[in-house]
Amino acid sequence: MKIAIVGTGYVGLVTGTCFAEAGHHVICVDSDSRKVNMLQAGGMPIYEPGLEELVKKNVSAGRLAFTPSTQEGVEKSQIIFIAVPTPPLPDGGVDLSFMEGVAREIAATMTSYKIVVDKSTVPVRTGEKVAETIKRYNKAKVEFDVVSNPEFLREGFAVEDFMHPDRVVVGLASRRAEAAMREVYAPFKAPIIVTDINSAELIKHAANSFLALKISYINAISLICEASGANVQEVANGIGMDTRIGRQFLDASLGFGGSCFPKDLSAFIKIAEQLGYDFALLKEVQRINTLQLDRFMKKISDTLWVVKDKRIGVLGLAFKQNTDDVRMSPAIELCQRLIKEGAKLRVHDPKAAEKAKAILGDAVTYVPRMDDVALDCDALVVATEWPEFKKLDLEKARKSMTHPILFDGRNMFDPAEMERLGFIYKSIGR
Ligand code: UDX
Repeated sequence: MKIAIVGTGYVGLVTGTCFAEAGHHVICVDSDSRKVNMLQAGGMPIYEPGLEELVKKNVSAGRLAFTPSTQEGVEKSQIIFIAVPTPPLPDGGVDLSFMEGVAREIAATMTSYKIVVDKSTVPVRTGEKVAETIKRYNKAKVEFDVVSNPEFLREGFAVEDFMHPDRVVVGLASRRAEAAMREVYAPFKAPIIVTDINSAELIKHAANSFLALKISYINAISLICEASGANVQEVANGIGMDTRIGRQFLDASLGFGGSCFPKDLSAFIKIAEQLGYDFALLKEVQRINTLQLDRFMKKISDTLWVVKDKRIGVLGLAFKQNTDDVRMSPAIELCQRLIKEGAKLRVHDPKAAEKAKAILGDAVTYVPRMDDVALDCDALVVATEWPEFKKLDLEKARKSMTHPILFDGRNMFDPAEMERLGFIYKSIGR
């Protein structure tokens, strides 16, 4: 099929590339011409495992192209996916101005039947607004359908998630649109759930809020574990074996971050409020998440007594493993708090150091090699769950430190083993 994707951020670029890989003809549109030039020249604006290879392969096969012109995208395609940012407003609501702008551009340029698919995360009833906007600004009064098709990609696993989804959700109101959407997703061999547009939009916020709730639940349990001498990992394994609960998203941590969960939670709370419901449960999810970082900071200051002028090594800056994304990263927030307390930080991240520099600047020392982070440090902190941190030479790290104290915000190491190696080891809920 001929598909346009408007917006080449994480979601748009992965979506377009994976559709091309599935055999469709895709044109990706972005108003940022520098980004378009970069992609046309074979560069990548983001790090996402496996993506670069797929972009190169599909560009050479002639199934994937990039343009700064929405008009060109609209003219060349029957289906137009909108994957633009929907950033938070100061009151927790959602800024839909990019969405509206693209809907207007599509309306102004379309001359034949089009299916306009919203892939961005939006409040329930946005589809109705998009349809109204297109109707209002399309002078030719051509037919169109609006579809909601939320994404469930995890950064760092986005290509894998897109190619092998648990399910595909499409919200629509016409048979014609349904047939087209089934054809688009036929190569992916995933169950397709067809709903009305409002339900599809709600599924996205309900899913992300539930996953955040699961993390806050286990983080609250981690507090009880610490107070009672239980082990949160044992508890998570014990409850996770119940298939009604499931083990995933039950890893206690210094809190969830990223561009989705914090934003989607605030948005969902605001949407509920506008619909007349006080979603206190989700407010508590947010409170527990903030508390988790506060508690971790307290653990560090209680152990070090005075944080000022302490040399602290920090492993991890990204909001989670396998990504260079530092948006709403608990690791970055931790660094900022430690800097504020006067600590001298030596930081390392396998991919996110460049993006972290834009926030932390010269306030920290960036260490290119993981094994050098601990040098002369009074303490070491694990802030992101990069799997390679498990391979850290702990013996060498201990010897190179002034004091062998390790704060593990991701429960990556075994407490008994750490004790055997001579570390003072503090983790979460164990
Ligand atoms: C999430 C959703 O998983 C995805 O479906 C949606 O489309 C976008 O938002 P993402 O933000 O990429 O994806 O990351 P995810 O893997 O869900 O992790 C979110 C945060 O939760 C990270 O900070 C991670 O470290 C944290 N986390 C995750 C935990 O603290 N404990 C866990 O058990 C799982």
